[in-house]
Amino acid sequence: MKAGTMAFKIKNGTSFLFVILSFGIFSSTRSTKGGHWVEVQRSIGISAMHMQVMFDNKVVIFDRTDFGPSNISLSNGRCRYNPRDMALKLDCTAHSVLYDPAANTLRPLTLHTDAWCSSGALTPDGTLLQTGGFNDGYTRLRSFTPCPHHDTCDWREHTSHNLSTSRWYASNQILPDGKIIIVGGRNSFTYEFIPKAKTDKPFYFLPFLKLTRDPIRGEENNLYPFLHLLPDANLFIFANRNSILFDYTRNKVLRTFPLLPGREKRNYPSTASSVLLPLNLTALNGTRLPVAEIMICGGAYPGAFTLANKLKIFLEASRTCGRLRVFDANPKWVMENMPMPRVMPDMILLPTGNVVILNGAMNGTAGWENAVNPVFYPVLYKPGLRSFEMLSPASTPRMYHSSSVLLPDGRILVGGSNPHRLYHFRAYYPTELSLDAYCPEYLGAEAEAWRPSIVAVNDTAPYGRVFAVTFSLREWLGGVAVTLVAPSFTTHSFAMNQRVVVLDVVGVKEVAEFGYRVVARGPPSLAVAPPGYYMLFIVHAGVPSAAVWVQVK
Ligand SMILES: *[C@@H]1O[C@H](CO)[C@@H](O)[C@H](O)[C@H]1NC(C)=O
Ligand SMILES: *[C@@H]1O[C@H](CO)[C@@H](O)[C@H](O)[C@H]1NC(C)=O
Ligand SMILES: *[C@@H]1O[C@H](CO)[C@@H](O)[C@H](O)[C@H]1NC(C)=O
Ligand SMILES: *[C@@H]1O[C@H](CO)[C@@H](O)[C@H](O)[C@H]1NC(C)=O
Ligand SMILES: *[C@@H]1O[C@H](CO)[C@@H](O)[C@H](O)[C@H]1NC(C)=O
Ligand SMILES: *[C@@H]1O[C@H](CO)[C@@H](O)[C@H](O)[C@H]1NC(C)=O
Repeated sequence: MKAGTMAFKIKNGTSFLFVILSFGIFSSTRSTKGGHWVEVQRSIGISAMHMQVMFDNKVVIFDRTDFGPSNISLSNGRCRYNPRDMALKLDCTAHSVLYDPAANTLRPLTLHTDAWCSSGALTPDGTLLQTGGFNDGYTRLRSFTPCPHHDTCDWREHTSHNLSTSRWYASNQILPDGKIIIVGGRNSFTYEFIPKAKTDKPFYFLPFLKLTRDPIRGEENNLYPFLHLLPDANLFIFANRNSILFDYTRNKVLRTFPLLPGREKRNYPSTASSVLLPLNLTALNGTRLPVAEIMICGGAYPGAFTLANKLKIFLEASRTCGRLRVFDANPKWVMENMPMPRVMPDMILLPTGNVVILNGAMNGTAGWENAVNPVFYPVLYKPGLRSFEMLSPASTPRMYHSSSVLLPDGRILVGGSNPHRLYHFRAYYPTELSLDAYCPEYLGAEAEAWRPSIVAVNDTAPYGRVFAVTFSLREWLGGVAVTLVAPSFTTHSFAMNQRVVVLDVVGVKEVAEFGYRVVARGPPSLAVAPPGYYMLFIVHAGVPSAAVWVQVK
């Protein structure tokens, strides 16, 4: 069944401003306890190290320009000549593709400079602003603007503006005023804004980034810092075992949180993952701040990188998660155990408010050939119940340089894994060019009768306003949530800008046979939901619809 194709009469004669285009739901006829996996592409020609879903449902995927020749050619015989490339100076292959999940097709894109281990965020108008990388890409700004009505858009390199300093392994976050903050990078103990206001300095020193860096060569354990915009407009920044509440407008640390318990380190190369748990606006009436809680899972023990890198001894990874309610008077980490140890996990928030922890390895760390024992089992974490449930196993190892993103149809797209310096297809853990989709249990045939289909949204920019969504449904069980999900830029186990906002539902009523109308309050502030495109889901009895895109502006 497709969203938007079920017609029904609206009883009270309300007309709707926007008709939503249909979007396929991928359901299965087999038993789906624990969900199931589908390999959607055997090879996309590159290894999905970085991924971002765009507002036209397409996914921008890229690896790095100095991997040597990829398995997909640039179209029209275009080539990239770069005298500074360390692997291949004249390269006629692509290192980025645009993937269309609905059609299951892709086309090559042209990256001109090296975006290896870079960072990114969507601007308020839905352009991917992608920053930094390695070598000739250290200070680069690149962008990709979707082209839903033709299929010719490509990467743009911004040579008239550069980052103030090299940013390799930095993290980005979109801010309430629409600027993007870029924090850190290897040997860059600073942050900066893009675009810069007249009063902004080129960069600001942040000693926290230097203090959290472990001194042994390669052991840094503070790269790709975890960054989360909190609903009070401050930033939560985590690196190594440390975290701060940070006012980026005044360059001021407002609070230092307790160390995350345990000896484990949580950032690259002892890579863990981090999420801001869903911001639940239910019953707050737009007047109070929602509870903000961070959850960090996995990582590695001190020295794990050096042992793996030098001696090929692979320590068991961390099995703990820590949760911190940042606005408590006396915030304390609450520790929980995952069913298995995991380094390099991805943590993906579902529209239901649950978390899927997937990918990674049980031993070792991030870095070249530094991990063994891939974890095939994803785990479903329910924040309300604090429960971990093992899901159906994948069949492809997804370790260093793999990534995952939530798709608008509710699947999780999973790709990449290349623990080698170059493409290496015959290694024990080979370079992975494939793409998998993990289909959670809610996409199964058993859930079909309870699955809402969005028919129309009467306001596609519902910031600060009450708005209505009509949807169809075969069997009403009660319990409807309206959630906004910000699509993440995922790389190195961190889904930057990932955010789930559970809106305050004012009411829901039946307006036709199988037709319902839910009224909800849009986000109350740009700190709760920073500007940009969000996937709007209706969740009924734990089963989400396919998303439609709305804009917060
Ligand atoms: C990529 O291309 C190489 C060289 O043609 C080939 O040996 C290899 O099998 C291909 N890899 C995949 C995963 O398709
Ligand atoms: C940005 O960097 C590129 C490459 O190093 C350089 O060619 C360009 O002039 C720089 N732009 C500015 C505005 O400094
Ligand atoms: C929110 O509004 C509802 C209905 O008007 C009221 O019952 C409730 O007390 C309000 N809650 C807050 C926190 O103001
Ligand atoms: C993984 O770690 C466990 C626990 O330390 C250890 O027993 C096992 O040998 C390790 N596996 C590998 C392949 O190194
Ligand atoms: C949001 O909060 C409401 C009221 O406490 C609760 O019923 C609901 O389950 C919560 N939703 C999520 C996704 O956590
Ligand atoms: C959408 O519906 C809500 C709830 O009925 C109403 O308050 C709002 O004014 C409507 N918005 C538009 C743009 O029609």
